[in-house]
Order: sequence, then structure tokens, then C-alpha cells
Amino acid sequence: MMRTAVRFWSKTGCTTRFLSVALRVPVRSRPFASIPSGTRIEQAVSSTQLRELNVTWNDGTTHAFPNVWLRDQCWCPKCRNPTTEQNLVDSASIPLDIAFTDVALSDAGKLKITWMNDNHQSVYDGDWLRECVEKKARLERLRRALKGPRLWRALRVDSLPTARYDSVMKSDVDLYKWMLGLQDYGFAIVKGVPPVKDTLRLFAERIAYVKETIFGQLFDVIAEPEDVASHFAYTSQALDLHTDLNYREKSPGFQMLHCLESKGPPDQGTSHFADGFAAAGWLRENHPSAFHILTSLPVNFTLRTYGRKYCYHVPIICTDPCGNVEEIHVNNDTLNTSDIPRDSIVPFFASYKTFVAKLRDGSVDVRFKLEEGDLVTFCNRRILHGRTGYDPKKTRRYLQGCYLDYDEVTSKLDSLRDIYSS
Ligand SMILES: [Fe+2]
Ligand SMILES: [Zn+2]
Repeated sequence: MMRTAVRFWSKTGCTTRFLSVALRVPVRSRPFASIPSGTRIEQAVSSTQLRELNVTWNDGTTHAFPNVWLRDQCWCPKCRNPTTEQNLVDSASIPLDIAFTDVALSDAGKLKITWMNDNHQSVYDGDWLRECVEKKARLERLRRALKGPRLWRALRVDSLPTARYDSVMKSDVDLYKWMLGLQDYGFAIVKGVPPVKDTLRLFAERIAYVKETIFGQLFDVIAEPEDVASHFAYTSQALDLHTDLNYREKSPGFQMLHCLESKGPPDQGTSHFADGFAAAGWLRENHPSAFHILTSLPVNFTLRTYGRKYCYHVPIICTDPCGNVEEIHVNNDTLNTSDIPRDSIVPFFASYKTFVAKLRDGSVDVRFKLEEGDLVTFCNRRILHGRTGYDPKKTRRYLQGCYLDYDEVTSKLDSLRDIYSS
């Protein structure tokens, strides 16, 4: 293996051109928390055979960076938009055997590479390269230690993440903590929200864009006369546990419900939430064949409303490529089993009954009456919601709701995590 040690250059020896490039390396307002201060690159040795650069820091840490990755990760303004961080290099066009003509290390710990194919010069901050190494190690540790979502078992409502409206509206740190709870439990409560119409939008937009659907941006959940109601939700009937809009290509990731009015007997119009992930985990453990059927057989969800027909096929339980449960789709009102293949019909019903019975048996749910000023947010692909029926002559129940896209919510959480995670 042929190895070439890099040459070092002093600040005074830098060319003007290099300085102008170096100054454009993204400036970070604070040091990376995971890197001990005083850490710097001591040596960089290239392997022409392996097409990689072996970097050694002064604390003895070494890491081999493949050349193709280094070229792809040039963050100069020609290669990466400094504002949006969009990639300006055609990653697929980088030669796999890309090599450099020169590697140099500055006193300030920056690494400069001149690429052989086009003479492009890339400058890497030593801390940034080290952070890439630490990040991979951290992710690997996280992956190994990952306990997954906090599943609901005999949960009490007061153990669910709860915050006051004023605090999450004013403080990003408080919002971040509340959102971490939302991520863990798939459900979180905000109390003390003014029971005023459209206040929901103020809170929703603190986190994400409101997702517009056939029901509009904000929708009113209030009892309407049954002959004019466009949806069961807009009546006083009981609603079985369900997830919303399974008939859409992708059901909304999150739902918010803000209670504007709650008057009447305590046992009427009670809200009911259940953890679909906990029930799916139980099913996998205790009825693996039922779990297999519900994760592999797409079923049809359909709704005709406002002159449109929505229709989508999706399994009741969706798993990711690693087999982790990532979505639940249950809705008796819109389930349409008419096109399930003949041989799958009885196995499907047997499996579905077992799963739904678990959701309803009280072991993975909470029930409580929403009070005026309560605002609940939950993952619509994990947490099922429902309510007991009520007599509209005795009970006034008025909720305003909206949906948020899953990735809009996680993007907010990720941006807060970047600031507050250390
Ligand atoms: Fe619903
Ligand atoms: Zn570049």
C-alpha cells in the first residue's frame, strides 16, 4: 500500500486563494459539544490503493475517510448552498477512484485537498470532520440502546406529557421538552389554551404548517343534526377507536384537538385514546400469525364525501424495512373489505378481531373528559382516538381540530434538538 503523509503549512504560508476558500467554511456559533476542546488534527495520511484519507487527531483518534465521501462532502459555496445546505455537486458523477494531487494541513487544523480530476480545492474544518466521526458513533450507540417509543401500559392520563399554553408559546426550551414527550408517547397535552375559536391555529403554527384536507384547515367537531352531518364525527354518536383519513395516500401524521366547550354529565362525550403500537407489539408477541396477516395484507379504506370518492389500500399495521411497527390504520367507518382475496377473508377477520379486542380491552389506553382549554396532540399513525356518545340536549361538547404532516413536526423537533440537545 502506498501511503503519502500530508505536508503541513503555516498560516503565513497560505495562499490568498486558499484563505478565501477557508473563510467560507460554515462557521458554527458554538463548539461541538461532543468534541473535547483543544482537539485538533495531527496527521493525515492518504492511501492511494484504498482511495481514502486516514486522519489522526491529537487525542489518538483515527478515522479513514473514503475519497469519494470527502469530495461529496465539500461544503464550499460551489458545492453546497450555504443557506439551504442543498447539494450542488452531482454525487452520482464523482469518480469512485477519485484521487487528489495535494493534501495540506494548516496550523488552525484545517485540511485542504486539491482534487486531481478538476483541480477543485476543498477545505475541511478539523472539528467538523471529527464531529462526523462522533455523530456516526453516537448514532450507532443510540441504535443499540434504542428502546423505541414509550408504549402505553396501564397508563394514567396524568403521566402523559403535559405543559401550560403560556410556557410552550413563549419558551422554545419548554416547547422542545414537550415535543420530546410527544415523540416518546405519541401524545401530549397542553392545558390553559384560551377556549377561543381559531386559537388552535396559533399553537399549531408554532410547530408546523396546518395540513389542509377536504375538511379544511381547521374543522369543528360539534354535534350537528344527523341528517345534515357530513361525517359521523360531527354528530353526538359514540365513535369507536380509530385513526383518521386512512383512505388518503398517506394519513396525516399528527392531529390536534382543542376543547372550546365541555359541559354536561361526566360520563358523556368522554375522550378515549389507545396506543396502537403497544397493541401491535402484544399481537406480534402473542399471535404472530395474526400480526403477519395484518402487516402483509393491504385492505381498502373508502370515503365518499363532498362529491369526492377517496380510496386507498394499506395494511392495518405497517412495518419499516427492519420490521419495526411504524403505522397503524384502523377505522371501522371507512374500512371496506369487499376486495379482500377469498382465501384471506377468514384469516383477516380473525386477526383483525384479535387486534381490535386488544385495543379495546383497557390495557393500552386512557379515557378522560377533555376540559375547556385542553389541547391534545397525537400521532395519528400510532394513537387511536374515539369518544363515548352523548345527549346533545344535556352535553355541550365543542372541539376544534387540525392535522399536521408528520415530517413538518419532526423537522421542528430536529431544529430544536440542534439547539437544546446538549
Ligand atoms: Fe377521528
Ligand atoms: Zn467544493
